[in-house]
Amino acid sequence: MSVVGIVPAGGSGERLGVDRPKAFVVLAGRPLLDWSVEVLKSICDRVVVVVPAGREAPPDRVAGGASRSASVRAGLAAAPEASVAVVHDAARPLLTRDLVERCLVALEEQGADGVIAAAPVTDTIKQADAEGRVLQTLDRSTLWAVQTPQVFRAEALRGALDVDEAALARATDDAGLVEAAGGTVVVVESPRENLKVTTSLDLRLAEALLEVRTPRGV
Ligand code: CTP
Ligand code: MG
Repeated sequence: MSVVGIVPAGGSGERLGVDRPKAFVVLAGRPLLDWSVEVLKSICDRVVVVVPAGREAPPDRVAGGASRSASVRAGLAAAPEASVAVVHDAARPLLTRDLVERCLVALEEQGADGVIAAAPVTDTIKQADAEGRVLQTLDRSTLWAVQTPQVFRAEALRGALDVDEAALARATDDAGLVEAAGGTVVVVESPRENLKVTTSLDLRLAEALLEVRTPRGV
């Protein structure tokens, strides 16, 4: 069995709005993507990072595609040996070893095609129309906010990603594509700190948490 980490880091970071792609912003002393790569390297047989075109360094840094899922497909294509793929966004630098390990154990024990980290929804969620008129209040007890890592049997993920560019661009996560292909997906509860860096506020929060975890300069 070969467990390969795939780290989508090929986005531009438009909403963060800094002078370089988001994954390369220095956070608590090191590039954002290094935080997750270090954790994955301690667990996976190999880690493939998918970077913006022009920053590639084969075999383990490959160029991404036009959408996040296209980048995941490029990463997986660079790892034909993978039997299990651990997909984790560079934008979530607070990844822990424990969370990845719990996903891998669940994949084995539950016999699912995919296991995804997710947080129970804490806000009340309502559905509204285009004018803001509330249509319904959803039952929060069954809702999960989905994150990464997302761990898959590599064959199931390869099959799910074998769709056209438009379908890849519509997908907001890889598990959705596996579900659409008829695969089974299970959620594992993630710690609240596994936040995603989207805006400068997220960056400040992540930096504060990482500085506590590893003192600056260490
Ligand atoms: N990503 C990627 N290839 C793309 C788009 C996104 O590998 N074509 C990666 C990002 O680098 C990030 C993850 O997917 O690690 C989640 O995407 P997101 O948070 O949206 O990051 P960006 O696309 O970089 O940010 P923005 O949408 O604000 O431009
Ligand atoms: Mg994006």
